[in-house]
Amino acid sequence: MSEREVWATRIGLILSMAGNAIGLGNFWRFPRVLAANGGGAFMIPYFIALLILGIPLMWVEWATGRYGGKYGHGTLGPMFYLMSRETLKPKTALIFGMIGGMLAFAVTTLLNSYYIHVIGWTAAYAIYSASGAYYGANTVKFFLDHIANTPMVLATWLIPVVILFVAAYRGVSKGIEAFNKVMMPLLYVFAVILAIRSITTGSPIKPEWSSIIGLEYIWKPDFNTLSSNFWRISLAAAGQIFFTLSLGMGIIQNYASYVRKDDDIALSALTTTALNEFAEVVLGGTIAIPIAFAYLGTEFIEGIRAGEIGSAGLAFMALPNVFTTLGGIGRVFGTMWFLLLFFAGWTSAIAMYNYLTAMLEEDLGIKRKIGALLVFIIYFLLGLPVALDPTLTYFDELDTWVGSYILVVLGFFDVLVAVYLFKPNNLWKELHEGALMKVPTLFKYILMTLTPIYILILLAGTTYDYYISGVFAKTDPLVVAARVAIVLALIVGALETYYGIKKRYARELAENRKLVTAG
Ligand code: PHE
Repeated sequence: MSEREVWATRIGLILSMAGNAIGLGNFWRFPRVLAANGGGAFMIPYFIALLILGIPLMWVEWATGRYGGKYGHGTLGPMFYLMSRETLKPKTALIFGMIGGMLAFAVTTLLNSYYIHVIGWTAAYAIYSASGAYYGANTVKFFLDHIANTPMVLATWLIPVVILFVAAYRGVSKGIEAFNKVMMPLLYVFAVILAIRSITTGSPIKPEWSSIIGLEYIWKPDFNTLSSNFWRISLAAAGQIFFTLSLGMGIIQNYASYVRKDDDIALSALTTTALNEFAEVVLGGTIAIPIAFAYLGTEFIEGIRAGEIGSAGLAFMALPNVFTTLGGIGRVFGTMWFLLLFFAGWTSAIAMYNYLTAMLEEDLGIKRKIGALLVFIIYFLLGLPVALDPTLTYFDELDTWVGSYILVVLGFFDVLVAVYLFKPNNLWKELHEGALMKVPTLFKYILMTLTPIYILILLAGTTYDYYISGVFAKTDPLVVAARVAIVLALIVGALETYYGIKKRYARELAENRKLVTAG
């Protein structure tokens, strides 16, 4: 087999992994989820989830990825298969491979199909901000008009996708790494400027509306709200940790598969997590909510709390009002805000794009350059129902299942396979090969106990929550269409994985005993 691609530099690896994790989740989703769940109250279960779910799963996914990379794999199916073989016969291990491959396929196809559309909106809005297009308009109506304008939506969708294609076409180090090395520093610069602008806003409208009071709202732990909504807030916090760290998607493993076999992963995983948390809690937390609070006040926070203002409402309707009020300079800040979202989103979407390109390359023998084009077509087709439904019903249904539920299911299998089937000691050995730090053994025990229990509670709680809030009872045709898409993606993913593993490990499966070792 040909030499597997590797990251060219350590800084490139770290920036790319940070780019993978830092996404719309940090600047778009986090502020809304935070405000909707009692501000400061939310941060307590959030940090607990970071410690029990986030950091340990990050180590698991990095180790899984590099392990798979040694055998030439960048996708979850074969990785799970290989790890499960440590305990199970190949034929049984194949089942776990198929589960992993199927879930990751559904996420990387469908989640990205609507996520890229949001990136497209940010491209459009960067242009609208620079030209002052929404100045003087009703920003709610302006946004709804934008997403109903299909030609415009498709045209601006092309901006991120063409760049995604170019990066995937050029490959891991020359494409993905090179783009991340430019976009990630810019992202931090823009975010820092906007954060400073936000906290120095003062009280432009009313004395009791200041960005500092907005910040306080985020940071002051409110135990009353927490205790009376404990369940709901904890679920939201754990879900956010999954989303923001790109866990349960297969893409951390994919990136880790391009790490050299004796390079550090333990410290790199922790560094990535730290970079993501800084971008999320410090920068993401400081920008949108405090500045919007200073200009739009209590009613705005109440709107988010009541669920009337969603993520789109915050980023695309509320903030444009703020930029308008700022006048001429508002155009600069507006453009910066949407470019920030663009870079954040793009550097995440490329990870899913690459996952699928790698899958085509490794399992089906399709050359990267052609694969990159095929993935373009796949996203175009999968994105069409998103583009053609301005009510966002289809989008929301996908988000409900793929963006919040399947991730957690996959996270459970992450632990089951990499900790239990692969065995804790093997995982620890893999994690520490070439490691620049020693991971406290306590985390091994957390991974064996608290993490999977936490995930199961999270799954049960979310299922119950969906049941109570009527998610199951929905019958809108667009909702049904989204569910059909999910089921189809799962089936295709399972078949593709079966084919990929079968092809590569035919003899081993036929004899049903372990024959292949990493070369
Ligand atoms: N961690 C990413 C984020 O915060 C999640 C993501 C990755 C979503 C890739 C879509 C595509 O946005």
